[in-house]
Amino acid sequence: MKISFFNELNEATDTLVFPLFKGQAIKDALADLDTKTDGLIATHYEENKQFKCKLGDVLVVRLPKSTGHRYAVLLGLGEDEKMSRDGAETAGGKLYKTLKHLGAEHIGVMMEQGLNDSDLPMDALIAHLAMGVNLSAYEFDKYKDKRDADEDEKGVEAIDFISSQAESASNAYIVLDAMAQGVFFARDLVNEPPNVLYPESYAEMVKEKLKPLGVQVEVLDDKKMVKMGMGALMAVGQGSARPARMVIMRWNGGSPDQKPLGFVGKGVTFDTGGISIKPAAQMDLMKMDMGGSAAVCGLMYSLALRNAPVNVVGAIGLVENMPSDNAYRPADIVKAYNGKTIEILNTDAEGRLVLCDTLAYVQEQHDPEIVIDLATLTGAIMVALGTEYTGVFCNNDELWAKMDASGKHSGEKLWRMPLGDNFSEEMKSKVADYRNLGTVARYGGASTAAAFLEFFIDKDRPWAHMDIAGTAWAHKDKPTGPMGGTGAGVRALHQLIVDHYE
Ligand code: BES
Ligand code: ZN
Ligand code: ZN
Repeated sequence: MKISFFNELNEATDTLVFPLFKGQAIKDALADLDTKTDGLIATHYEENKQFKCKLGDVLVVRLPKSTGHRYAVLLGLGEDEKMSRDGAETAGGKLYKTLKHLGAEHIGVMMEQGLNDSDLPMDALIAHLAMGVNLSAYEFDKYKDKRDADEDEKGVEAIDFISSQAESASNAYIVLDAMAQGVFFARDLVNEPPNVLYPESYAEMVKEKLKPLGVQVEVLDDKKMVKMGMGALMAVGQGSARPARMVIMRWNGGSPDQKPLGFVGKGVTFDTGGISIKPAAQMDLMKMDMGGSAAVCGLMYSLALRNAPVNVVGAIGLVENMPSDNAYRPADIVKAYNGKTIEILNTDAEGRLVLCDTLAYVQEQHDPEIVIDLATLTGAIMVALGTEYTGVFCNNDELWAKMDASGKHSGEKLWRMPLGDNFSEEMKSKVADYRNLGTVARYGGASTAAAFLEFFIDKDRPWAHMDIAGTAWAHKDKPTGPMGGTGAGVRALHQLIVDHYE
């Protein structure tokens, strides 16, 4: 599907789309079409009680042949003062689903019908509608037999957005599309089954995708990591027949004297819980426990695709958490890369062990200006925030203010959560330096996990931890993507870089 932006309508369009804010009268191109069809559209618009012009509502009108088009689609945008980037994407996503269902092939979206009193400028409104269409068209069907597909179903071939602001909308969309490609890479990684995507194969996939774009990719294997003293990450991986890996990605698009931004991801390719094994119900979902690492890979891909003028280092710790005769146990004491010891009390609290070594390594080797980690770290964050908000733990108000603004700007919902001494105290052990489980394990689980990570952050280094356990996986189809991996984190972080670090 090709998405384009033009000043004038292309003759070949079979379907015309008219986005409308609530209470808006029929005018301009839509009025022309209405006159040509003896008031057909006005009749539908006024008489159809289902179409209330709510955000994402659609009204399809079959057009007579004489018009040269097959369908007119009215697309509700809701109240103009409530319009947002997020809202525009939802509307775009719903529009795409209708068009696909209709069998429309070449579509013109007429953006000139209308006042736009929303805070969102017209070019941003258009670009985000297009982004919604783009995100909505993502599918993961590589394991399905294509012979079962309907041969006649061509699908949407082209969508043209028609407006006098085509050029600035197109420029805004170029950045968004690079971001969408990063989201798709992250979704693909999360959606891969764990027998296909495991630490070694994952590292190869990352190399294959990123190296051609000029990203440097280095892979540390299990032997090397043992030698280097990454005892926390290696403990988690030791129960699996699939050896652990760490992948370090570097994008040097900025000036050589600029310190890199650091991004770290949890890449547990499957989390059974280990010896502290998880219940059977829904264990399959734990293939998404590498969602944090996938977001880092997606981010690197977006940046490289558009040649972003910034230096970034991304590091992902890749392990499979399995129970076996060689698995780590509750009561084990392991030594992390920074020399600190950790008492294991629950082998299912493994993400923090993978992250602490990866975080310590990145800070020591690359001295990043800021470091942000992403992880599907705790069930507790889902209890606290549900599945729409990513929880953010941050040791620096300035960094949080930037993330807050960029989250809103990108349409990804972020919510700040607390760190504090009370949580840190819970993570100290009587027999080792730290423990991997809170002392009062039932409460504040997302904060105690974050407090554990904080022990491994250098003093004065701005750091944020994003717990995406609730947001990395969509449990049902949504307007902007199907059930499955969402690519959570890519958009907020890409926007953070665009807004504050380029
Ligand atoms: N991968 C899980 C967290 C998770 C849960 C992610 C649900 C996505 C959806 C993590 O490794 C885990 O098992 N955490 C435990 C920690 C506990 C043992 C302290 C949890 O949240 O129950
Ligand atoms: Zn776990
Ligand atoms: Zn996990």
